Amino acid sequence: MNFADELLNWYQQNKRDLPWRNTTDAYTIWLSEIILQQTRVEQGMPYFHRFLERFPDVRSFAAATEDEVLKLWQGLGYYSRGRNMLKTAQQVEQEYGGVFPTDYNTLIKLKGIGEYTAAAISSFSANEHRAVVDGNVYRVLARYFGISEPVNSPKSKKTFQELADSLINKKNPALHNQAMMEFGALLCKPKNPGCGICPVRLGCYAFKHNATTNLPVKLKT
Ligand code: ADE
Repeated sequence: MNFADELLNWYQQNKRDLPWRNTTDAYTIWLSEIILQQTRVEQGMPYFHRFLERFPDVRSFAAATEDEVLKLWQGLGYYSRGRNMLKTAQQVEQEYGGVFPTDYNTLIKLKGIGEYTAAAISSFSANEHRAVVDGNVYRVLARYFGISEPVNSPKSKKTFQELADSLINKKNPALHNQAMMEFGALLCKPKNPGCGICPVRLGCYAFKHNATTNLPVKLKT
């Protein structure tokens, strides 16, 4: 089995049951992805449920006041995320009649939605072939393929995106993307990765060269 198939296999046996994985609703996925930026799953979960309960669709979100959004956001930090969410919701309401877009090229034009989020929403909601590249994916790719380019340099962004795109499973890009992120979150962790039980260790550069602590490379900023 190749790398991507092994990860898919691992994912199906080891994944967490997370509520935003049981939907293809672009609005719900957007909500989860913005909350999970810079926030751990356990911390973000109650916020995800609270937001969805108060704003079951993008229309109700767009009609909220900033005060209400910020109140619901309280405790999550990075308050600009909450403020930008309201602007995104209003933009979807005004420009797309309250129908949350599912295609990458439309999503990327929305305020507050960058490459990662556009790839996540378009692959999870519409199975577009867009590889997500978040911190987890950088780490997994840097270690497995032995990439020592700093992950936070502008040049490396292209290297990692192209590599990630080349690996994507065309039949099931959504599962593939979830698998890459989950593998990074649960097994190929920043500290103490589970190399002993890793299904792809024999092909892994970092495992072979005892280099998991040196990869990925990050420039001091
Ligand atoms: N972190 C960011 N997006 C995620 C997702 N879809 N599942 C789990 N953790 C995540």
